[in-house]
Amino acid sequence: MGSRRNGAVNVVDGPVPKHRQLRDILLAMVEGELVPDAPIPSERELVQRFGVSRATVREAVGRLVSEGRLYRVRGKGTFVAAPKVESQMHLASFTEDMRRRGHKPSTVVLGADETVAPPPARAALGLDVTDRAFRIERLRSADGAPMAHEVSWLPAAPLPDLLERDLMSSIYSILAHDYGRVLDSAAQTVWAEGADPLRARLLRVPPAAPLLVFRKTSYASGRPMEHVTSWYRADRYQVHMTLDSALHGHRPT
Ligand code: GLP
Repeated sequence: MGSRRNGAVNVVDGPVPKHRQLRDILLAMVEGELVPDAPIPSERELVQRFGVSRATVREAVGRLVSEGRLYRVRGKGTFVAAPKVESQMHLASFTEDMRRRGHKPSTVVLGADETVAPPPARAALGLDVTDRAFRIERLRSADGAPMAHEVSWLPAAPLPDLLERDLMSSIYSILAHDYGRVLDSAAQTVWAEGADPLRARLLRVPPAAPLLVFRKTSYASGRPMEHVTSWYRADRYQVHMTLDSALHGHRPT
C-alpha cells in the first residue's frame, strides 16, 4: 500500500512498484467508498491525483479488471464489479451454499420427468439401458437474480416418488431426509463456456457471456445418486480451492 500523508494515501518511490501501490489504493476505494457499478475516477484524474504515468494507471486498473474487481464498458469507463458469491468447492447443495453466504436462494423448476437417461448420464449412474431415471431441470437464483441453470439426472429405483416432492427446495436434503441417501463424495469437472442464446435468456445475461460449467457425479456410500450439469454465471460466482502438495507425495524436504 502507498504511504499515508495528511490523511491521503499516495504513491511513493520505493521498492514496491508504483502500479502495485496504485492497485492497492484502488482496491481500498473499491472495498471502502465505492459501491458496485460505480465508476472509478478516469485515467486522467488518477494520473493527476497520484502523480503517476498513464502506463502505471493502466497496469493497476488492468490488474483489478483481471482479478474481477473492476469491469470496463467500451466508451464509458471502468466500474466497480459486484462481489462474487464464492464457493468453497465442497459437496454443498445450492440452497445451503447460498444461505451460508448470506444470500436468499430460490428455485424455478423448469422440468421434471421420469425417462431413460442418455448414455453419459446412464454410464455415470451405472444404469442399464432400460433403467428409469429422473431428469430435473431447475433455474437457481440468489437474492432474486438468476445464478445457475442445472440439469440433474437421478436413478429412479432407489428414489420412489421423488418427483412428488417439493423440487423447489433442496434435493440434497430430500435425498438425506426422505431416502436416507446422504451424498458423501463426488467427482467434478469444471470448464468455461459462453452462454448460448437460450441459457443467456434464462440467466439474464448477454449471449456469449461467460459461464462456469460444473459437471458432477455424486455418491451416497459409493452408490451414484446424481449426475448433474450446472451452468453458473461467471460474473456472480467464483470458486475457492485450498491446495496442498501432499496428493502426489512431492512434499519438498
Ligand atoms: C449445487 C450443485 C449441484 C446440486 C445442487 C443441489 O448447485 N452444483 O450439483 O445438484 O447444488 O442443490 P439443492 O440441494 O439446493 O437442490
